[in-house]
Amino acid sequence: MPGVSCCNDPATDAALRMSEPSASARRRFLWCAAGTVATIYALILVGGIVRASGAGMGCPDWPTCFGQWIPPVSETELPANYQEIYAERGYAETRFNVRKTWTEYLNRLLGAFTGLTILATLCFAWPFRRHEPAVLGLSVAGFVLVGVQGWLGSVVVATNLHTGIITLHMLLAQVIVGIVIVALWRAERERMANDAATLATRANEPLPSGTRLLLVAAMSAGLLQLVVGTQVREAVDLVARASEHVDRHLWIAALPRVYDVHKWLALPTVAVNGWVIWLVLTRFDAPLPRRLAIALAALLLGTIAVGTSMERLNLPMFAQPLHLWFGSMIFGLQLAMLLVIGGAGRASAMATGRATGQATGQATGQATGHATPPVGAS
Ligand code: HEM
Repeated sequence: MPGVSCCNDPATDAALRMSEPSASARRRFLWCAAGTVATIYALILVGGIVRASGAGMGCPDWPTCFGQWIPPVSETELPANYQEIYAERGYAETRFNVRKTWTEYLNRLLGAFTGLTILATLCFAWPFRRHEPAVLGLSVAGFVLVGVQGWLGSVVVATNLHTGIITLHMLLAQVIVGIVIVALWRAERERMANDAATLATRANEPLPSGTRLLLVAAMSAGLLQLVVGTQVREAVDLVARASEHVDRHLWIAALPRVYDVHKWLALPTVAVNGWVIWLVLTRFDAPLPRRLAIALAALLLGTIAVGTSMERLNLPMFAQPLHLWFGSMIFGLQLAMLLVIGGAGRASAMATGRATGQATGQATGQATGHATPPVGAS
């Protein structure tokens, strides 16, 4: 790991230390990258609200909304014949609705803001280019993929919500969040590894050997749920359209088998995630891994509670974006846990190394009559 006395060559070590970003540059990057992750999750929530409230056509044109950069708040601000104008452009259904227009507008603003935050993250990653080049590389990848995601969003509309593209759109959002989380980790891991209290397991005992594999299985189950959930959502949209958006109480019963698959897949997903959460809570006193595990447990319970309420309460509108939002944050948390658990493994190996070094040093010191400094004490 760069910076943690990586090399036997003191000159290389010193050069690496010199290229370390300053504390304020590090803080700027961390805040900006964390803000990007938060903005992407906010965008997923607002996108879900747009869809559940049918606000997608709240702005019938793009990039302006009703021909204005800041949309109107009342129909009186539009030309008297605005419906005819939009009918000529192929949008015969256009009726101004302030709630729908501003919901869609907020969605667009957040989309633009995400572009700005990822660009700022990329700029703030520059000071890491020598010390931890992966931070810069990952930020570039995140920036490019946000552009691809914007383009894919337009393809979703152009292909009239093609199922495969919607799924790809959802998975790409997870990839982007994942890339920024890994960049955050790479920027912070050295500091964390040097601070035993942040990562070390209870009594520095290593986690059971299969823990990381178990977490990878939990992540795969979570991602599968996302893909299957997206197919359920597509089926809900078809049923809603077929019933002209009325009779919500009949929609759940009309869903195809993929809905049962989605419901029952929740059981193994919870089981494998629950196992990992239990392992982390019983092995760590350190606050970071414990907080991640508790947040994961809360998100899983929240997703399932909202999913169950959708079934029992005939798909209430408020529940649709919430279920998507909770479900989509699971992967990010699991990834953060995977990185932290890996870091904990390294931290406990380093602590064991230090302890062994100290013991060897003391033994050598006793034998030769002078003390040897412990590993890493220089
Ligand atoms: C770990 C558990 C679960 C995860 C990660 C998950 C995730 C998801 C995701 C990502 C969607 C797509 C939402 C969208 O694109 O708008 C979805 C849809 C859906 N899920 Fe789940 N889900 C889980 C469990 C459940 C359970 C237990 C139920 C029901 C008992 C359920 C019921 C539904 C329904 C009805 C939809 C369609 C929602 C809509 O049309 O807005 N889910 N799920």
